[in-house]
Amino acid sequence: MKVSVEPHLFVIFGATGDLMHRKLLPALYRLVTGGHLTKKCVILGVARTDQDDAAFRQQAQQTLLDAGFLTEDTANKWMQENLHYLPMMTSSPDEFAALAAKIEAVEREHELAGNRIFYLALPPSAFPTTIEALGSVGLNKSAGWTRLVIEKPFGRDLASARELNNLVHHHFDESQVYRIDHYLGKETVQNLLFFRFANVMFESLWNRDRIHSVQITVAEDLGVEHRAGYYETAGAFRDMIQNHVTQLMTLVAMEPPVGFNADDIREEKVQVLRSIAPIKPGDFVFGQYAAGKVGPSAVIGYRDEEKVDPESITETFVALRLEVANWRWQGVPFYIRTGKRLQRRVSQIVVNFRKPPVSLFRPFQGEDSSIHSNKLVISIQPDEGFDLHFEVKAPGETKVETQRLRHRYSDTFTNIPDGYQTLLFDVILGDQTLFVRADEVEASWKLYRPLLENPPAPHPYWAGSWGPTEAEKLIVHSDDHWRVI
Ligand code: NDP
Ligand code: BG6
Repeated sequence: MKVSVEPHLFVIFGATGDLMHRKLLPALYRLVTGGHLTKKCVILGVARTDQDDAAFRQQAQQTLLDAGFLTEDTANKWMQENLHYLPMMTSSPDEFAALAAKIEAVEREHELAGNRIFYLALPPSAFPTTIEALGSVGLNKSAGWTRLVIEKPFGRDLASARELNNLVHHHFDESQVYRIDHYLGKETVQNLLFFRFANVMFESLWNRDRIHSVQITVAEDLGVEHRAGYYETAGAFRDMIQNHVTQLMTLVAMEPPVGFNADDIREEKVQVLRSIAPIKPGDFVFGQYAAGKVGPSAVIGYRDEEKVDPESITETFVALRLEVANWRWQGVPFYIRTGKRLQRRVSQIVVNFRKPPVSLFRPFQGEDSSIHSNKLVISIQPDEGFDLHFEVKAPGETKVETQRLRHRYSDTFTNIPDGYQTLLFDVILGDQTLFVRADEVEASWKLYRPLLENPPAPHPYWAGSWGPTEAEKLIVHSDDHWRVI
């Protein structure tokens, strides 16, 4: 489908940071080279580092070269024409007035009509001052459209999220606001909606009558890396559960939306959050990785990582049991977990169906085996795709055996866009469907309030394991257990 992109200025606060270089710049570059943004996107990077356009362009070029994206010539041309930089040491009114003047100068140079995106790729502590300053100098509106993109985590709890929403709404209309959660940009995550609502076969089984439990695992093999400054104040709960993992859960549990548009979809996701039964202390387990082995490599424990407090109680693992107390899901446990330094990087949703009500084949099965329940395993990453596990008769024997129907994206599709590429393009087009609405973010913090008010001490777990054994206690049915398939 051909869509029309309006020329615009993309202002990125935090333009010297990790997110800019690892994700935003490559995503914007792919959009440019893919022909989506040619001659339409001009970037203005802002950060405290004192440097000029030339140094910023040089850095950006190196990032793209290192990522293997381009030859030096094409990189140079794009950088020289479209990248600008402004150092800003503080958030003072004078500096923001200088930013407004710089924006106008860049817009004149590139003959842009005043369409602007402000992307806050900043530490969350810097969101409020930046939003306040943008509003105070009148950068919340322009001759064209103005959009504000806010990274996660949005607040630290319900009170701070509300405060941040109030501040945002004081200066911007909700229709201008894009709270980003990059998991929603992943193709496999978006596909959850298509998979559920374009296939009547699955949707008719998608309820408490047929489903026994749902498990969502978002496991990382990496540790905290160089991000202790941020991670020590966030922990796995604020970094992953409140946003990415909760988003996956709402997409699995939501009702069919009235239409495929931003508000209809976001409305149904909020309803899921509102339906979840209050969380009790026995419903969650925190963990923290100790030294261990990930693959063949020995790795240090969290407390020995650079810039981590040697007595830190920050959790690097969270497992949680939730119950969506509505007509469709009452009584079906949703198990969710995430952690760093786990055995391998895998994000997976396992929908565990009920077993047949009568075991007709028991006489043929022998003492220790029984029929396995059907499973739908949705692989979010890596090895994107899904597997449907079902039972068949083993030829020549009176015995059932589990087999899989398998779909892998890579067998059929090439060029799967990165999540940030999809989301940045949506911001440019003005499509809020894959962004988190104000009430949604508040509903999520509200849901987790009991856990935030009384966070448990983290149990140690070996790096390279699947987390602390205490997480097993969350499983309610004796024939169930945590699994990665
Ligand atoms: P970094 O620490 O790498 O970068 C932060 C950027 O903000 C730098 O450009 C820094 O540059 C600038 N900065 C730092 N402190 C301040 C301040 N007080 N006021 C103004 N500017 C400041 O962080 P990341 O890039 O990793 O993260 C940025 C945001 O993106 C966070 O909200 C994070 O949660 C989110 N995010 C990051 C992901 C990632 O993979 N990195 C993934 C998903 C979300 P300078 O010192 O020059 O000002
Ligand atoms: C980020 C978290 O939001 O998501 C990181 O801050 C985490 O801690 C990352 O590593 C995981 O993203 P992905 O796309 O690699 O699964």
